Amino acid sequence: SKAKMVIDKDFVISKIDKRIYGSFIEHLGRAVYGGIYEPGHPSADEQGFRQDVIDLVKELQVSIVRYPGGNMVSAYNWEDGIGPKEERPHRLELAWRVIETNQVGTNEFIDWAKKANAEVMMAVNLGTRGIDAARNLVEYTNHAGGTAWSELRKQHGYEKPHNIKTWCLGNEMDGPWQIGQKTAVEYGRLAAETAKAMRLVDPTIELVSCGSSGSGMPTFPEWEAITLDHTYEYSDYISLHKYYGNRNNDTANFLASPMEMESFIQTVISTCDYIKAKKRSKKTINLSFDEWNVWFHSNEQDKKIEPWSIAPPQLEDVYTFEDALLVGSMLNTMIRHSDRIKIAAMAQLVNVIAPIMTENGGGAWKQTIFYPFYYTSVYGRGVALKPLIHSPKYDSTDFTDVPYLDSSVVYNEEKDEVVIFATNRHMENTLQVDIDARSFEGYEVKEHVVLQNDDPKATNTLGKEEVKPHNKGESYMESGKVVGILPKLSWNMIRLT
Ligand code: AHR
Repeated sequence: SKAKMVIDKDFVISKIDKRIYGSFIEHLGRAVYGGIYEPGHPSADEQGFRQDVIDLVKELQVSIVRYPGGNMVSAYNWEDGIGPKEERPHRLELAWRVIETNQVGTNEFIDWAKKANAEVMMAVNLGTRGIDAARNLVEYTNHAGGTAWSELRKQHGYEKPHNIKTWCLGNEMDGPWQIGQKTAVEYGRLAAETAKAMRLVDPTIELVSCGSSGSGMPTFPEWEAITLDHTYEYSDYISLHKYYGNRNNDTANFLASPMEMESFIQTVISTCDYIKAKKRSKKTINLSFDEWNVWFHSNEQDKKIEPWSIAPPQLEDVYTFEDALLVGSMLNTMIRHSDRIKIAAMAQLVNVIAPIMTENGGGAWKQTIFYPFYYTSVYGRGVALKPLIHSPKYDSTDFTDVPYLDSSVVYNEEKDEVVIFATNRHMENTLQVDIDARSFEGYEVKEHVVLQNDDPKATNTLGKEEVKPHNKGESYMESGKVVGILPKLSWNMIRLT
């Protein structure tokens, strides 16, 4: 099969905000306890953080990490996680029905993120709590001193404010599973008033209001329209969440899911802009795609977990090769929308639906999905270019006209480098892509990295990496054009310099 592509320096979508290469750590399963934190582990540092995990997070160049939830935040008392560890309460954590020991809290997590070279995106509880708890937390983390909460932070050993810049106004407040679920009007009012108070404490912060917890919700996109009507003046971003799964073992259909993601994003943008027009506002609300990934493998297993244990294995999806292809395409979709998506978080980062896995007391390893995230995060920095694509197409169970070729293009002016990320969704055929890179005359193929495997269900486990990339891709230059050779079912990165 053959496809064609035109790329040009002038076809600029946007500068990519580095925060789209973000991720998420929730107090859930073994993400914190046994994941990032395990005192007594051979690689643990003086604070009990696993250095082997920090090293892998740094390798991914994760720019920002959302914390502490997720569903968990909707019943969380942030005050439980500060001060002397031995005095911190054990609590029933209702979202995941476990015991939370609070041995890691706000300050420790901020320390961890610093060690991992990442910013923190902090979420406040708008389920069981509201304005007061949220404004106190901003005062505790961001106010210089001289007030009760800021002095308490100093007393806890943090003289300087943390200056957390990005804040989530609750989590998935439309979901019936959420503790303190709200109607759109209830949430819109609460989010607006909370945002107002948080900004009065620190006017430099940025705020993300909750969008629908998924495009499949019956209240989508009315939820967005109603809540934004209330929050428009006070927030900067609206959240999107989306998880896919190959539940019917229909790979062609599963790999087409980013078509749905595409229309989800378009609808949210349209709704934001409708409210903008309605309010005659000059302000544009951008998107924070702060939960996205594949999630379904562990669903059955999780039903068997007994309640009220401490850090049991939960949501421990073991990812396949085809999941990695989908993750690559989800990243492509976000790059193509980088004019509006300014923050994103792969959910999650360690052990819980994660690219990084650990064994308690043992090693850490890379899941299949680690690789597309790694390459896109490391090489996808700069300006997103709009590729013009002509590709043969297929129909799947839920989608029509699915292009076999899915791609995004990033131009890094500083490094004088053009990077083409491309997935070939064809299950049998190699795809040859003729790329007219007209404005990049004299550029050569520097590297072609390929993630391929004959078995779509191949997985990685500790000590056995079945799915890993090689850089022996066969793309070449011919009469000033790039000829991309994309093996059947493969994810590719072609770097031109
Ligand atoms: O990431 C797992 C869960 O998915 C989060 O806690 C919640 O926000 C979403 O439903």
